[in-house]
Amino acid sequence: MDTPAEPLPCPAPAPLAARLCWRALTAADVPAVVEVEKTAHAHPWRARHFEDSLAAGYWMRLLALRPDAGADPPHWVHSPTTPEGHWLLGYLVAMPGVDEGHLLDVTVAPTHQRQGWGRWLLHALAHWGRAQRYAHLWLEVRRSNAPARALYQRCGWVEVGVRKNYYPDTAQRREDAIVMRLDMGEHCAPTTVRSNPTACP
Ligand SMILES: CC(C)(COP(=O)(O)OP(=O)(O)OC[C@H]1O[C@@H](n2cnc3c(N)ncnc32)[C@H](O)[C@@H]1OP(=O)(O)O)[C@@H](O)C(=O)NCCC(=O)NCCS
Repeated sequence: MDTPAEPLPCPAPAPLAARLCWRALTAADVPAVVEVEKTAHAHPWRARHFEDSLAAGYWMRLLALRPDAGADPPHWVHSPTTPEGHWLLGYLVAMPGVDEGHLLDVTVAPTHQRQGWGRWLLHALAHWGRAQRYAHLWLEVRRSNAPARALYQRCGWVEVGVRKNYYPDTAQRREDAIVMRLDMGEHCAPTTVRSNPTACP
């Protein structure tokens, strides 16, 4: 059975909004999500990480786009789809706490990157954090992950510390984590999702 869609937590341009599906990520989505992980991350989560997060009751949400045969570019043909056959745009995993939440994963499928979906997802996360009445959200990001660090800064997150050698890198080396915090008063400027995804490279 399809997982019910939820109201969109952030706006999107009219032609796209009608095709967007925002809903809980479920066990049935894990194969497609893992497919995206492998292409988007140098150190991807495995199925087990998503299954453990589901079992732990973490906040896991997925954003997908209903296909429009007349509008979608042919290069999307190899993009992962959800069990309903929607293009998987991206997803979030966040760990709820008592007074604050912790972002564990945010990913936009490579075919759909640089179109504003990363900002959209972080808007949705901040919306969730405010609804939980959190004072802050936290995350760690690899020092070398310049796109993600730029995205977070753009969305009001501030770098507040470093965890030395936090992440495994190669067999011989580890990588620092930059610790970032979002104060719930802060938020992105209005999102700029492109209204015509076919125009994207
Ligand atoms: C990080 C990530 C989520 C960004 O998603 P996205 O949809 O491409 O980002 P957006 O289009 O919303 O970009 C928003 C801002 O982020 C920054 N940004 C995003 N990608 C960038 C890149 N490749 N280089 C530099 N800045 C980048 C820019 O400031 C951008 O604003 P601009 O487009 O006005 O310049 C995406 O690159 C991704 O999924 N990466 C792999 C997974 C990952 O590293 N996740 C984070 C750690 S868990």
